[in-house]
Amino acid sequence: MLIRFCSVDSVSVKVSVIGLGYLGATHAVAMAELGHEVVGIEPDPKKLEALKSGVLPFHEPGLDEALTRVLKTGKITFQSEHSENSATADLHFICVGTPQRQGSDAAETSYVMAAAKALAPHLKPDAVVAGKSTVPVGTATELQRVMSEIAGIDVNLVWNPEFLREGTALEDSLRPDRIVVGAWNEHSVEVIKTVYAPILNLGTPFLVLDVPTAELVKVAANAFLATKISFINAMAEVAEVSGADAVSLAKAIGYDERIGNKFLRTGIGFGGGCLPKDIRGFMARAEELGVGSAVEFLKDVDAINLRRRDRVVALAKSELGDLRGKRVTMLGISFKPDSDDLRDSPALEIAQRLRREGAEVTVHDPVSLSALAEKDPSLGRAAELVEAVRGADLVILGTEWKQYKEADPELLGSLVETKTVIDGRNVLDVDRWQAAGWKVIALGRSIRNG
Ligand code: UGA
Repeated sequence: MLIRFCSVDSVSVKVSVIGLGYLGATHAVAMAELGHEVVGIEPDPKKLEALKSGVLPFHEPGLDEALTRVLKTGKITFQSEHSENSATADLHFICVGTPQRQGSDAAETSYVMAAAKALAPHLKPDAVVAGKSTVPVGTATELQRVMSEIAGIDVNLVWNPEFLREGTALEDSLRPDRIVVGAWNEHSVEVIKTVYAPILNLGTPFLVLDVPTAELVKVAANAFLATKISFINAMAEVAEVSGADAVSLAKAIGYDERIGNKFLRTGIGFGGGCLPKDIRGFMARAEELGVGSAVEFLKDVDAINLRRRDRVVALAKSELGDLRGKRVTMLGISFKPDSDDLRDSPALEIAQRLRREGAEVTVHDPVSLSALAEKDPSLGRAAELVEAVRGADLVILGTEWKQYKEADPELLGSLVETKTVIDGRNVLDVDRWQAAGWKVIALGRSIRNG
């Protein structure tokens, strides 16, 4: 992979990557894959030890093999804090998290600030700091001021948002749609260009912007994606009461190139560590800036999204009546397939609500059961699909893992008395499941059964 991306113009740069969560770990590996010398910095001893021994602390297809590969080359090392070694880096990427603040919609920026403060005393005068975390617009200006004060120099800070998706993180990092950088000076742009040279040589658009615009690009992109999903889920609400079919509707409108067919999959809606908290953080920041009404529509985007979860709980009740003692199987618990991330997972919230109302919920998921055991041990877990489905009064598909799309409805039907499935992601072959005797309830679709 490295050879394919390298070109004669590429120069190896020494970089540090601060914060090795989803974003940081992927970015560190991607940088080493591009041939740079990488020092990864992560204070959490568990994560650090795992990474040092070539084990990823989360599930991400292809990234574990890449980590093993780059560890062997010696291009990547990990440590718990800054050192003389990391201080010689030409470029430092800040990749720490900005979760939703406790008791507020705003983004928690204290980890980013702490990372910047810890880094400042270790900067070479010509070093560049690149922020990659998703931050409220205006954060970079404040970070630059604080770091410059500590370092006693005018720190070269750029904002370089990341657009990777979980499940395809490495591929997205190595072949992004675009590279965006918000910069205050030309030197910083040149350093960024050098580090991304192998990617830029592929013809990837490189956008040099002012810093606030670069900060905004990320939240605006996520807000737009969330809006698209909630738009089609709003159509699903209308479809459900009018005999229409939101899946066909999405296909039909998606042929219009101005609309496009991506991110119009209707179902139980968006979750994860990014879209939900980013739209809330965006609204909170706009409010602070006195333009809250400009993005007030995002409240509806959030509300439509959360109503999809209510809808599944209501459907379960209308199928099962009193939930106490009823056996419900949740197929898939992560917020999306190819990930074991349970942050704000729609499937998890639905499972927890059904459990709270007395249902006995059993969860199956190809990779997320140990994450679930840690997060919520009150939910039942089954390692095998047949074991999970056996004896269920209701099956709900919560995450569209490939193995559920390919599951044999005849076989699964032989394990239950009441063959009812709620397809929360609209991925089951309805005809096939119905032919096997299942009542299929698909969100946003009016499907006649039997
Ligand atoms: C999202 C963005 O897509 C990335 O570009 C961004 O870099 C990332 O957030 C981030 O801010 O770090 P991610 O959260 O990994 O990426 O996942 P998505 O593929 O965006 O899916 C988010 C949620 O929307 C999932 O729960 C998914 O099931 C749901 N979704 C997606 C739908 O319900 N319908 C769709 O049509 C598409």
